[in-house]
Amino acid sequence: MLSSVYAPKDFKRLRASGDLVARCFDYITPHIHAGVSTGEIDRLVAEFLHANGARSSDLGYQGYPKHICTSVNDVIVHGIPNDNEILKDGDIINVDLTAEYKGFHGDASRMFMIGKVSPLARELVQTCQDALNAAISICAPGVPLSEIGKTIEAVVKPHGFSISRDFVGHGIGKVMHDEPQIYHFYDKVWDKVKMVPGLVFTIEPMINTGSPKCKIDPDGWTARTVDGGLSAQWEHTLGITEDGVIIFTEKMV
Ligand code: MF3
Ligand code: CO
Ligand code: CO
Repeated sequence: MLSSVYAPKDFKRLRASGDLVARCFDYITPHIHAGVSTGEIDRLVAEFLHANGARSSDLGYQGYPKHICTSVNDVIVHGIPNDNEILKDGDIINVDLTAEYKGFHGDASRMFMIGKVSPLARELVQTCQDALNAAISICAPGVPLSEIGKTIEAVVKPHGFSISRDFVGHGIGKVMHDEPQIYHFYDKVWDKVKMVPGLVFTIEPMINTGSPKCKIDPDGWTARTVDGGLSAQWEHTLGITEDGVIIFTEKMV
């Protein structure tokens, strides 16, 4: 069940991959504004990864056609970058970037608010980031995996937002998607499985202003809310240490 358990020397590699992902976000961030296409953001990522000896883990994954996922407004996950999709004032967008560098994957996503967004959109984006940070803060050896979902629910529910159940976090390391699955809602099946030093996984809550249910576009990838409600997601790749947790997908200082 816990196949994504790695040795300390692998943690150094995972840290390097995560640092590269964080630096790629810094590279693209100034370019994410009204008037830019999601296709252009994809090209910027491709350029950065190539220049740094890394590659997109997404490109070609089960036939996925681009380097990143760009999920705008009601898109929950897996929006495909497109030159005809132009960001406009008031949009919210998730950029999800997974890169493989020297054999190890780092996976993170961030939200960007374009110009002046509605108070509801701002609350959604902030609550989702708060939920991810709260979930990270409870991670340590001996903690049941079910505590992650419990913690996210405690942050999200008071705001009246819903949590998507169709997509989960995942073990990661030498492959992008591995066991265990990480639920963003409480389920007792994960009470029995405890975090151990060396475990590497993502947490990536998706929360919505309306229904948590999704529908898939004819492109076979783009997952949207059924009711057109807004959706937000934040993601980090993490590793359990002897005494706590390390966030791999942050810049090394
Ligand atoms: N980055 C996504 C995740 O968080 C996976 C992308 S799937 C792909 O798991 F098909 F777009 F590659
Ligand atoms: Co991701
Ligand atoms: Co992920």
